[in-house]
Amino acid sequence: MEHMETLKALGLFDARVPRYTSYPTAAVFSPDTGASFQSTALATLDPKDPVSVYIHIPFCERLCWFCACHTQGTKTLGPVESYIETLEAELEMVRATLPSGLEMGSLHWGGGTPTILPPALIHRLVRAIRRVFPPADVFDFSVEIDPTMVDRAKIDALAAEGMTRASIGIQDFDPEVQQAIGRLQPFDVTRACVEDLRAAGISSLNTDLVYGLPHQTLARIEDTIDKVLTFAPDRVALFGYAHVPWVSKRQKLIDEDALPGDLSRYHLARRAGERFVEAGLTAIGIDHFARPGDDLSKALEAGRLRRNFQGYTADSCQTLIGLGASSISRLPGGYVQNAPATAAYKQRIAEGVFPGSRGYRMTHDDHLRARAIEQLMCTFALDLDDLSREFGPRACELLPCLNEMAARFAPFTELTGRRITIAPEGRSLTRMIASVLDQHVPDGVRYSRAS
Ligand SMILES: C[S@@+](CC[C@H](N)C(=O)[O-])C[C@H]1O[C@@H](n2cnc3c(N)ncnc32)[C@H](O)[C@@H]1O
Ligand code: SF4
Repeated sequence: MEHMETLKALGLFDARVPRYTSYPTAAVFSPDTGASFQSTALATLDPKDPVSVYIHIPFCERLCWFCACHTQGTKTLGPVESYIETLEAELEMVRATLPSGLEMGSLHWGGGTPTILPPALIHRLVRAIRRVFPPADVFDFSVEIDPTMVDRAKIDALAAEGMTRASIGIQDFDPEVQQAIGRLQPFDVTRACVEDLRAAGISSLNTDLVYGLPHQTLARIEDTIDKVLTFAPDRVALFGYAHVPWVSKRQKLIDEDALPGDLSRYHLARRAGERFVEAGLTAIGIDHFARPGDDLSKALEAGRLRRNFQGYTADSCQTLIGLGASSISRLPGGYVQNAPATAAYKQRIAEGVFPGSRGYRMTHDDHLRARAIEQLMCTFALDLDDLSREFGPRACELLPCLNEMAARFAPFTELTGRRITIAPEGRSLTRMIASVLDQHVPDGVRYSRAS
């Protein structure tokens, strides 16, 4: 309780800061960096370095009220089929631009709901991707799956195409919580999906859970965790509910009076985290857990853990090529985001122009700060001597930031020379502490809460 009061006094419950899945964040992207930056950056990639590929499928059969992802509802397959055609055209545009010999080290399908694709479209999309990006010897293929929007035939199609990890959305199993977030998902349906995935030979399973949902209580989240543990997940992502109705209009359907208060939300996160650690999972960064033998745990142990748009990753590729509406690419010179609206994205591809509509060119200082923020978010420590091996003596320019972190967050940080560490009881402050390094907090942008 004593810690709680100090965390509160430091502003944990009031702060609104980015999740730092990138630095700078998408809020600072500008239309000055778009299609021409994208095509030049793709053309000048070094073919010796494998890339990660992200494909965005912005369709769902149902639209859950709590969801802040970029997606749209559809009851028919017409728009989905037409979108796959556009993705094929975008892939062809990219193929004609890339240097030859480039390989793909990892592939992720996200959304929306990629498993809205029937088997024939799954095979067609994989073929189109492989034509452009042959898989490297070490290759990882993960797919976000809504257990209510998948069947054995789709899972078999994905498995046949080399899916290595399935990430299933759960959020919470309690019927009242599900009702309040507009997402009905019976436990039996989810269990059947897990059984189908295991039977298809998928050895890596991630489950997404959310704390801070309406009507959630400690007893309810513990019951959800008991059920999730019966699946023996290899990874768990435990996200804090981001209530941002000014961005995601469907969240206006959420009853704000039913949302847990600051204190309850804090205890939900803490208890859930403790349960996963008690169950033998390793805590990874601020919101993931992984089985000790899982790649994420190995990456943490070896100092190779990274952070990208999906959260934490063991993926070592420096370049991420995002395809589809709203996808963000991380290229050597900066970020570029495809047109977010599906219609605008399709229009650009139909006109034969690259779909990048806004982005950001990174300076040397941005690269340094991005790496520093990533190090803090992954290890709860920042060591300027480590950074100087990658960035040279300029890494020491961040020393005033370390001094500021130590002064502002004194009870929970320890500064020794040029290394700062965050104490375990202060880890809920990590995003706030990382924001001290952020030189790009734009005016008028409202982020989700820090806790
Ligand atoms: C694209 S969705 C999941 C895939 C699939 N459509 C499903 O529903 O199972 C990705 C994940 O983002 C998380 N998410 C979405 N909206 C969120 C919000 N407002 N706050 C926190 N996490 C959220 C959820 O955990 C969700 O499973
Ligand atoms: S949680 Fe999944 S199914 Fe629900 S709206 Fe978001 S992307 Fe679609």
